[in-house]
Amino acid sequence: MKVNFDLKGKAAVITGGGGILCSEMARGLASWGVQVAVLDIREDSALKVAKEIEQSGGEAIAIKADVLNKNSLLEARSRVLEEYGKIDILINGAGGNRKEATTSEEQSFFDLPEDALQWVFNLNFLGSVLASQVFGEAMVENKTGSIINISSMAAFRPLTKTIAYSAAKAAVTNFTQWLAVHLGQNYSKNLRVNAIAPGFLITEQNRYLLIDERTGEETERGRRIKDHTPMGRYGEPQELVGAVIWLCSEAASFVNGAVIPIDGGFSAYSGV
Ligand SMILES: NC(=O)c1ccc[n+]([C@@H]2O[C@H](COP(=O)([O-])OP(=O)(O)OC[C@H]3O[C@@H](n4cnc5c(N)ncnc54)[C@H](O)[C@@H]3O)[C@@H](O)[C@H]2O)c1
Repeated sequence: MKVNFDLKGKAAVITGGGGILCSEMARGLASWGVQVAVLDIREDSALKVAKEIEQSGGEAIAIKADVLNKNSLLEARSRVLEEYGKIDILINGAGGNRKEATTSEEQSFFDLPEDALQWVFNLNFLGSVLASQVFGEAMVENKTGSIINISSMAAFRPLTKTIAYSAAKAAVTNFTQWLAVHLGQNYSKNLRVNAIAPGFLITEQNRYLLIDERTGEETERGRRIKDHTPMGRYGEPQELVGAVIWLCSEAASFVNGAVIPIDGGFSAYSGV
């Protein structure tokens, strides 16, 4: 039997699609013939990604949408269904961390502001839940589809400093399993929900933790991460795309409720 990675003609919604990692996933899926709806709260970033995809011969639309606002997601869903007629793939990519929700020499655990903690928790967890409600409902109508959440190394065991982010990503992993069971038991055996857990890639959300802003040198935390990554380096955004293509395709037809680490071995290493 030939393994089927074919995705041609499928329609995908990618939240946070204007960001560093998910724009790469959007480009990757489009290069496999997927029609891509790039959703982002920053309309200019979504437009840029959709334009790049179109210029390289793919199909994409940009939609301004806030994953924490259900009406905004419902409007986005109408637009996607108008354009593509169905939704086969949802990537819950909107997420991130904030300095104010991170402990540091200047900010102790006891002083972390409630609004910052809530912002990080809501964006990563609630943003994935609301988008799954809105776009998952369209998938349920066709009784088929693949949802991919973005978890993190912080979910397996909490990382120091990033309290709300670690908790939120643990919740994303838990939600991935919960939704895989719920959709299968109640709607269709052909709906799959999985997550990827990227290791460390330098992006805007973590640059301040990995690179010293004053000197431009790697921080102690950055060095430790590399020491604990058997492959001895950070990942590149393109290195997430293969797993995404696989999870969306028939090749992963029995993969459900799984969290796939893409981490150069970080989560395999006990440190000893
Ligand atoms: N960078 C890493 O090393 C790493 C590791 C593990 C997991 N992740 C996760 O991968 C995902 C993408 O991260 P990234 O590093 O590409 O970050 P990024 O900041 O480049 O991308 C996130 C995107 O989400 C958008 N966004 C923010 N709030 C939104 C909202 N309310 N509604 C819609 N869109 C919103 C932003 O505008 C941005 O374009 C996040 O869930 C992040 O937590 C990143």
